[in-house]
Amino acid sequence: MKKLPLVFLAFLLGLAFAQVRTWDQIKKSGEIRIGTEGAFPPFNFFNEKNQLTGFEVDLGNALAAKLGVRPHWIAQAFDTLLIQLNQGRFDFVIASHGITPERAKAVDFTNPHYCTGGIIVSKKGGPKTAKDLGGKVAGVQVGTTYMEAAQKIPGLKEVRTYQKDPDALQDLLAGRLDAWITDRFVAKEAIKERKLEGTLQLGELLFQEKVAMAVAKGNKTLLAALNQALAALMKDGTYAKISQKWFGEDVRCR
Ligand code: ARG
Repeated sequence: MKKLPLVFLAFLLGLAFAQVRTWDQIKKSGEIRIGTEGAFPPFNFFNEKNQLTGFEVDLGNALAAKLGVRPHWIAQAFDTLLIQLNQGRFDFVIASHGITPERAKAVDFTNPHYCTGGIIVSKKGGPKTAKDLGGKVAGVQVGTTYMEAAQKIPGLKEVRTYQKDPDALQDLLAGRLDAWITDRFVAKEAIKERKLEGTLQLGELLFQEKVAMAVAKGNKTLLAALNQALAALMKDGTYAKISQKWFGEDVRCR
């Protein structure tokens, strides 16, 4: 038998030992591991001091506090998050995942922590509607609901995918894309933050979605604990305060 390379063995061992933890095990350990991306402002991103911050980071910290455990944040590429979740790399994921039937087959979603939609962003004079996008090139983050929506637009010439959402904005500004499809709050924040009011325009809202946290498939005890804590934060004013801070409005689903 050929010898397995050491790195591969280490990888297999890692898989075997990483495990999905029940809420009881998490509570006993005193620490909850939270997976996110860190490149989706204002929801989850690294600030100029290289600290992980955003609406979902504040919310995740508040949830941990409500549950009485320390938050331990782990930032990973967006398109690997749900896979790593099922491998036990983190206890839950909060990274702006829209609830879709396909994802719901792989993981379990909590109640939504906000409601939003996918929007078309272009340079002034550029495409504003799905119809305008005929023959055009649109950029989206890989593995997102924007990618799915873009692929369904009839007549679109090309859908370019990016590892990180802000890279699509970069290409739009550089003239390599006709449009960027992203979250409506992300688009609003990018325009404000980068002072692009005179350059970019918001177009049609292509779809609406409910965004939720995810736990590994079948992790019922953690799902119940998170739903309970989220409901408590929505009731005691903590959620409203965090939402006001980041959006100047309450973004909960109604
Ligand atoms: N809401 C979109 C989706 O469900 C985008 C999520 C992107 N999240 C991120 N952290 N980049 O796919």
